[in-house]
Amino acid sequence: MGATGIASAMSFRYDIQDAHEIDVYEQHGGYEGVRVALDMEPSAIIDAVKESGLRGRGGAGFPTGMKWSFVAQGTGRPIYIVCNADEGEPGTFKDRPLMEEDPHQLVEGMIVGGLAINSEHGFIYLRGEFRHAGRRLSRAIAQAYEKGYLGADVMGSGRRFDLTLHRAAGAYICGEETALLDSLEGRRGQPRLRPPFPAAKGLYSCPTTVNNVESIAAVPFILRHGVEWWRQWGTEKSPGPKLMSISGEVNAPGNYEVALGTTVDDMVEIAGGMREGREFKFFCPGGSSTPILPASLGTTAYTFEDIQEAGSLLGTGALMVYSDQTCVVDVVWGWTRFYEHESCGKCTPCREGSYWLSQIYQRLETGNGREEDLELLEDLCDNIFGRVFCALGDGMTSPIVSSLQHFREEYRAHLREGRCPLGATQPRRDIVVTQIRSGGGYEPAPPATPQVPATEPAGQA
Ligand SMILES: Cc1cc2nc3c(=O)[nH]c(=O)nc-3n(C[C@H](O)[C@H](O)[C@H](O)COP(=O)(O)O)c2cc1C
Ligand code: SF4
Repeated sequence: MGATGIASAMSFRYDIQDAHEIDVYEQHGGYEGVRVALDMEPSAIIDAVKESGLRGRGGAGFPTGMKWSFVAQGTGRPIYIVCNADEGEPGTFKDRPLMEEDPHQLVEGMIVGGLAINSEHGFIYLRGEFRHAGRRLSRAIAQAYEKGYLGADVMGSGRRFDLTLHRAAGAYICGEETALLDSLEGRRGQPRLRPPFPAAKGLYSCPTTVNNVESIAAVPFILRHGVEWWRQWGTEKSPGPKLMSISGEVNAPGNYEVALGTTVDDMVEIAGGMREGREFKFFCPGGSSTPILPASLGTTAYTFEDIQEAGSLLGTGALMVYSDQTCVVDVVWGWTRFYEHESCGKCTPCREGSYWLSQIYQRLETGNGREEDLELLEDLCDNIFGRVFCALGDGMTSPIVSSLQHFREEYRAHLREGRCPLGATQPRRDIVVTQIRSGGGYEPAPPATPQVPATEPAGQA
């Protein structure tokens, strides 16, 4: 196991004044990764990324180097690299700060990724609501063209790479990579049937890779500093630092960069510890599509393999922390309402099931639960999981099944008492505060947020 705790590898420029300007970026190692990549064969770039063990940061954890090696070459058609900057998973807020504070890091990653897979054109598919990130990226792209990092002759190498920023309309399903491609092509964003996979037929039916912002932004660092540098953090199967979104009932929720392998309990401490008077009860390790786990598993090392062994998934690196003052049924109801709203409607189990699940949660929380409701929840989840077109439907069942597994007694208390024992009557929306904290330590804890009144959902800051 490598170093654990706070890291300052990918976020070190967040604290540097005007790091989003190209001159400042260059003064701090910016575009060195492109220089290194231009001296390498495309296959050598891919090999370096493979050796680094970098795993996709968009949710599934698929090895980035391997994904790039699958992109079909020599078909006579253009090859595209697409950056998934949709960041819609509840609890996740690590890509937006990266694009706002250090947009050139992503631009540089796109160029290096393009060189690796022989692509001459990349797209950044950006969530439309991220207006500030959009402004910063537009300016960064214009500056990179001016300085010759983008365009027909990248740094005088004779290699071409163009980059287009696409602002999306904002739908969770458009983060699913094939729905994203449909949306980028100007169609309604709905998942595509696979195969063919994007590596063979993606954007405009051409070979394409779709990668998360953090995955792409990591690559210039790996080329510049080397594979060993990257592997100083984390474990053999989960190397590297990770940008974490830590939210919930901690004193200092925010964006932290930590070494993979740091325990969940330590990350709670890094985020300032539990708020006064609250006891750690449960957590969701990787965004709302990943199963929740009880606080007793907080000793688990935060790696792809350890979190999986504990019964969940690392997902997007969105750690949501809850206390004994929070009703687990209420939290899961909030997420279920989200999935009901975001279901694209293409397949019946997800479209109808999400609505039905929501109704059951409403009954339970408002004192109208029926004896058979817990089994009904499980039966519905069983008929959704694995029977739907995309991972949105599967993900919807994760918090439900896992909360019933770990907190069945709390569900039963709702039936017994004919109300929510903790007084919730509305689906909860998570308290997500986006604060950027990188490098050493964390800022003093903000004043305690007032308790959420029993009758109102918590607002999203
Ligand atoms: C409903 C849904 C929403 C998703 N949203 C995102 C997203 O906002 N950003 C992202 O990078 N990946 C998202 N993904 C995962 C993508 O489909 C894809 O796996 C990812 O972009 C690949 O990047 P990576 O290999 O770098 O992890 C989503 C998947 C699903 C099923
Ligand atoms: S699982 Fe849900 S979101 Fe995915 S295609 Fe089916 S209806 Fe659409």
